[in-house]
Amino acid sequence: MFITQEQIQLFERDGFLVLEDLVSQEACNVLRHRASEIVETFDPSESVSIFTTNEQTRFSDRYFVESGDKIRCFFEEEAFEENGELKQPKELSINKIGHAMHDLDPVFDNFSRTPELAEIAKDVGFKDPRILQSMFIFKQPHIGGEVVCHQDATFLHTEPLSVKGFWFALEDATQENGCMWAIPGGHRSPVKSRFFRSESGEGTEMEIFDDTPWEESKLVPLEVKAGTMVVLHGLLPHMSFANRSARTRHAYTMHLIEGTADYPEWNWLQRSPEMPLRGF
Ligand code: FE2
Repeated sequence: MFITQEQIQLFERDGFLVLEDLVSQEACNVLRHRASEIVETFDPSESVSIFTTNEQTRFSDRYFVESGDKIRCFFEEEAFEENGELKQPKELSINKIGHAMHDLDPVFDNFSRTPELAEIAKDVGFKDPRILQSMFIFKQPHIGGEVVCHQDATFLHTEPLSVKGFWFALEDATQENGCMWAIPGGHRSPVKSRFFRSESGEGTEMEIFDDTPWEESKLVPLEVKAGTMVVLHGLLPHMSFANRSARTRHAYTMHLIEGTADYPEWNWLQRSPEMPLRGF
């Protein structure tokens, strides 16, 4: 066991677990550097795609829907002036890179697959963990957009439900630069909505099961130092406010699912049969 029985109890109680100093500062910097290289080679005219958790913005966005087995860059929603020019340099305009760096990029692969992470996955209940997706999140200065309160199980569905997030702070995350917030114990409520691939295969849709708002007064800030990993239960309500500060809030996140669970074809994220999911 890498984590203690007490930590497992905390995870079961709160729906999240903060593990400080899990990753070295150097490993954080290596990943940040690799992300900047990916952005450097990215040609914005490839696609102008904007990522927010707001379903309308994503709707019919093929660039997004086809990114499950690729490495693609997505702009911040507020990246552009009305005339279509970028407000800030390209490297300060990307919201995130997704969604298969852990399989396609050796630097991300190295970061994502370590004996410690494999052990933690087992400790939090996985029998046969598979890394379903990876995202490098920039949360850019001034324009880093809000991510509204959501459960990851809305976006990544298995039967039975099994998704968990491994979220890494690559820089100190504070309320000032848009740290994550979560509702402790909120993972005991069922999934409130389902994000799915349209039958045409080109867009996405949202089905709402329960439209009562989250009790946002119960949100607590997860202010953490670089090198901290937060394990997130798939049903945990979490969000982050916009980053209006002058500094970035770089983070890396992976979502794991149980290999034996059923993965419906209507999930937005689909991979080519030549790229089956792998574990650690
Ligand atoms: Fe999330």
